[in-house]
Amino acid sequence: MTENGVPESSPHYFRDLSDIPVELETPTGTAGDTRNRPLRDLRISVTDRCNFRCVYCMPKQIFGRDFEFMERDELLTFEEITRLAGIAVAHGVEKIRLTGGEPLLRKGLEELVGMLSALKTPDGRDIDIALTTNGSALDVKAQVLKDAGLKRVTVSLDSLDDATFKALNDVDFPVAKVLHGIEVAHEVGLGPIKINMVVKRGQNDQDVVPMARHFKGSPYILRFIEFMDVGTSNGWKMEEVVPSAEVISAINAELPLEEVVANYPGETSARWSYRDGGGEIGVISSVTQSFCQSCTRVRVSTEGKLFTCLFATGGHDLRALMRGGCSDEQLSTVMAHIWRERTDRYSDLRSAATNDLRGTGKKKIEMSYIGG
Ligand code: GTP
Ligand code: 5AD
Ligand code: SF4
Ligand code: SF4
Repeated sequence: MTENGVPESSPHYFRDLSDIPVELETPTGTAGDTRNRPLRDLRISVTDRCNFRCVYCMPKQIFGRDFEFMERDELLTFEEITRLAGIAVAHGVEKIRLTGGEPLLRKGLEELVGMLSALKTPDGRDIDIALTTNGSALDVKAQVLKDAGLKRVTVSLDSLDDATFKALNDVDFPVAKVLHGIEVAHEVGLGPIKINMVVKRGQNDQDVVPMARHFKGSPYILRFIEFMDVGTSNGWKMEEVVPSAEVISAINAELPLEEVVANYPGETSARWSYRDGGGEIGVISSVTQSFCQSCTRVRVSTEGKLFTCLFATGGHDLRALMRGGCSDEQLSTVMAHIWRERTDRYSDLRSAATNDLRGTGKKKIEMSYIGG
């Protein structure tokens, strides 16, 4: 913890080869952090670019024409990503999620999926490989991704109303094309498909019940996400958060619901099912009911920084270590150290103090940089 109450992800960052501990460690497959949270999920951002400008993520005022995205040689190569992923798997990771920006903008992504799908857990099981996308290119990409070994996709969709959706994505992208992408992904077998809707008061909260009604009885699992104070660009205000309790009560009034137990420990979403058997929905309440106590996620940014929290202000430069010539054993030792020392629980601690970074020279990372 720093003086101003901002949680530090680790006592120190790994920046170059001189930071690597001399004593090397063999992965045990059961890495645990300071709160005994295992390492289970690896989320890899494959590009910082996106063809949308969602107002809650990449507002045009900041991500405009002049915004400098990363150059190609700054990005981790597919080989570097696969190398890191293999080490993370040796430490306990069972699920890999590819994110962005918009991951489908990364050229040849199916090649990476193919490389990752060859990884196995220490006891020989397949890795669950998933992708979070805005759906804009899914109709074209779904089949090749499935063939390469992708297991499932999660698609962001914030409204069924064109005017509202276009106001949110801010690039005039129509709802119908996303819906078509979802259908194609379903047909090629990239399910169960989850649909993520970020709910922002005054922008799309009127669409909560219509979205529920539309996807009820479909093969898709709709999830409502509370607008989060991630990054520093989206002008987050608590008044714009629609608490999940409000979402559930609005839906329940028209389409009766009952709570369902979680699929697995650490699931981000609380599950509810329709009493008449019309399927399930989920709510992700990282603002009103944080889930840090069971957070098993580690994130790697497009240029190879490892972050132990979505709200971190700094990461560990694994690219510098890899390009500096470190061995797999050294990389594995670094990862073991980082996870063992991890203390993060930003959402649990969220308060005026934790949000105030003024004068510290620090900035929270952006969602478009690290991915959901
Ligand atoms: P499944 O693998 O299908 O269970 O998906 P998931 O819920 O792990 O991943 P997904 O990318 O669908 O996450 C949905 C949303 O939850 C993200 O877009 C974020 O808004 C939020 N979220 C995911 N992980 C975290 C986290 O570690 N912390 C917080 N605060 N929010 C998160
Ligand atoms: N709050 C909540 N979710 C967000 N996402 C992006 N920005 C935010 C935010 N501020 C989610 C989007 C998308 C995923 C990539 O991240 O819903 O599904
Ligand atoms: Fe792009 Fe997703 Fe961010 Fe929207 S939420 S701008 S689609 S990365
Ligand atoms: Fe995990 Fe950080 Fe999100 Fe808490 S705020 S759930 S520690 S990523």
